[in-house]
Amino acid sequence: MIVNPEIERYMLGLLPLRDEVLAEMEEVAARRNVPIIGPTVARILAQLVMATGAKRIFELGSAFGYSTIWLARAAGKNAEVHYTDGSPDNAREAQRYFDRAGVSSVIQVHVGDALASLAQVRGEFDLIFNDVDKEGYPLVLETVPPRLKTGGLFVTDNTLWHEAILNPREPSDKAVANFNQKLYNLSQFFTTLLPIRDGVCVSLKL
Ligand SMILES: C[S@@+](CC[C@H](N)C(=O)[O-])C[C@H]1O[C@@H](n2cnc3c(N)ncnc32)[C@H](O)[C@@H]1O
Repeated sequence: MIVNPEIERYMLGLLPLRDEVLAEMEEVAARRNVPIIGPTVARILAQLVMATGAKRIFELGSAFGYSTIWLARAAGKNAEVHYTDGSPDNAREAQRYFDRAGVSSVIQVHVGDALASLAQVRGEFDLIFNDVDKEGYPLVLETVPPRLKTGGLFVTDNTLWHEAILNPREPSDKAVANFNQKLYNLSQFFTTLLPIRDGVCVSLKL
């Protein structure tokens, strides 16, 4: 992690306790090494959703649905939140959590490649959250812009990629570094990179 561990602990200590379902998911993720966004980034997502009134939301890479639940709860009633993951096992586990969290009615579950799922759903989105495998980030950047409404938000996790963007060696390092540079250069987006946890890019479509 890129944040000073003491600051990370301090920030985590400020957070209100999560409910039983989210707390269990955080515990399971830590035990099984599931790379969830965790509560500090989840609160950024929820805050962006609440501040903009986003209702139509597409998530690229959802694992067992931790971030999806935060998005769905923040979007509230009449929302349409799309969950995507390549693993049917992840999707089944996520569905059980959605039922327990009381958000199933606003979530649509797609199993398979996230961008293929996006292509199958029509229309523009208020917010797209990107958390797929990092080698996929450049292709995500080619695909997402026309799928967001003007004034919509494109949010991407892991954009500091445990500092590997400073000296990219692996394909995933190069993909994230390339993604960040291109994202900042796109005139249709106004982007900021928040150095929280592993880095979060927030891009407003102009
Ligand atoms: C970092 S985890 C997602 C964590 C989730 N956003 C959260 O914070 O709770 C990435 C997940 O996306 C899935 N994934 C990665 N690339 C994908 C792709 N191109 N299409 C569909 N799923 C993908 C992986 O199987 C993994 O479960």
